[in-house]
Amino acid sequence: MNKTQVCMSPFRIVAVKRLLGFALLGLVLLCGCAEEGPVVAEFEPNWVFAYNVGQRSEQPMDLAMSQTQQALQDLFGTPDEPKLPEFVSEDDEYAQLISMDHLIKASGPADASERGLFRKHCVTCHGVTGNGRGPTAALVDPYPRDFRLGRFKFKSTPIGTKPTKQDISYLIQHGITGTTMVKIPELTDADIDALVDYVIYLSWRGEVERSLLFEAGELDFTDAENPESLYDPSLKNGSEEQQELFADQWDLLQEFVLDVADNWLEAPDEVKDVPERDATVVPDTAEEVLAAMQSSESSPVKESVARGKKLFLGEKAACSKCHGKEGKGDGQTDDYDEWAKDWTKKFGVDPTDEEAHIPLIARGALPVRKAIPRNFSEGVFRGGSEPEQLYRRISLGIEGSPMPAAELEPQQIWDLINFVRSLYVPEPDPDTPGQPSGAAGEKVAMSSSL
Ligand code: HEC
Ligand code: HEC
Repeated sequence: MNKTQVCMSPFRIVAVKRLLGFALLGLVLLCGCAEEGPVVAEFEPNWVFAYNVGQRSEQPMDLAMSQTQQALQDLFGTPDEPKLPEFVSEDDEYAQLISMDHLIKASGPADASERGLFRKHCVTCHGVTGNGRGPTAALVDPYPRDFRLGRFKFKSTPIGTKPTKQDISYLIQHGITGTTMVKIPELTDADIDALVDYVIYLSWRGEVERSLLFEAGELDFTDAENPESLYDPSLKNGSEEQQELFADQWDLLQEFVLDVADNWLEAPDEVKDVPERDATVVPDTAEEVLAAMQSSESSPVKESVARGKKLFLGEKAACSKCHGKEGKGDGQTDDYDEWAKDWTKKFGVDPTDEEAHIPLIARGALPVRKAIPRNFSEGVFRGGSEPEQLYRRISLGIEGSPMPAAELEPQQIWDLINFVRSLYVPEPDPDTPGQPSGAAGEKVAMSSSL
């Protein structure tokens, strides 16, 4: 594992120290990155969220951050030695959520035998912490997912609920077409199961971190007479009153942890089934839709495409509002996704005011990009191009993006799927002139700077 994947660069450390005044934390990080000795992987604090909470609550966040890090380590362990709190592992129901064996297998250094799957296969993009800030993150479009918000795009459950394990597993198995996240053929089913649990673990930890920092913004750490604190295990050895205070802190921690766990455990009950499809009307592939369109004979597929077009352009479905009249993704292109809004709009930071972003970018935020609707002429569907997957995208929407859930009848959704696929313009195959290649589906979007 490369050092830069684990530690902040010296520039970042200096910037963080100067800009944040988190001198102590900066020092700890510097020591952690010393030239000699093995590099110990650490979970990076959520500097961006902490900074915004600090700005809003107008108080220094250094104590809040160190207490949050302590609490997270006591609950979830470290990248090399992950753990789960006892109130999870010893509870019949919560213990089902993720398996300790999976965590051990997916965590640890990339070169560890029988371990290290996440750092071997995922960390260059998603980062050790799952903050979507691996070394290559800033160069790719779309950005890798930051799991800490607990939001996922391509799933079988509605917006506002967690994905199922199968949803995450499908994406690791197939890759996310049209993005840099590709299928990794060497992963076995058991590896994928372990990685799914590890994604949940990182996301869980990240959501709890946010809850703690948010809570810290409500406390007064600076009251000289009676300073409040978020998590202070030394209180356990204090007076009766102090012990009670710690019990309250622990209760709150437990509440934060179990709230997130409940959401994950509920996901399987939230799944929306996809109705049966008539393959003579809704064929398996875009190529079959194109063939029907090119034929001079009328067919149920052609009729369905015509109905879909009407809906697409119509007011009720309003697809063309965002995707453009020809589905080229050139309708509404000035919105942002929730990962960008999370550190801008949500905290009153104007997403277009680049100067206001400087302190946040210094802390690890990635420059904002607009959320661009899909261009259907490319025929690339990130969440999977099977009609059943497209049905989910349209009927459930895409969480975290502007794409809403469409409130339409099943047949209308199938018609839209046919229409959207009929817009695919296969790229000419360079080897066989005149033949379409289908390579568009494999195309990977990298920024020109790579
Ligand atoms: C080369 C970069 C790269 C690598 C390596 C990579 N990913 Fe991703 N991943 C991405 C990008 C980019 C996205 C965001 C796609 C989007 O927003 O449409 C993503 C999104 C995800 C998501 C969120 C899916 C959703 O529905 O929102 C999960 C989960 C995920 N990756 C897991 C993994 C795991 C596990 C690995 C390792 C086996 C991995 N990724 C390796 C780039 C990568
Ligand atoms: C408010 C804007 C908006 C509206 C309205 C909208 N979309 Fe989207 N759509 C988007 C955006 C943005 C994306 C890209 C989401 C992403 O992956 O980040 C998208 C993505 C998609 C995808 C790609 C899914 C994938 O797996 O890659 C499909 C299919 C789609 N939209 C179909 C539709 C249809 C059909 C309608 C009308 C019922 C519609 N959209 C309405 C904004 C919109």
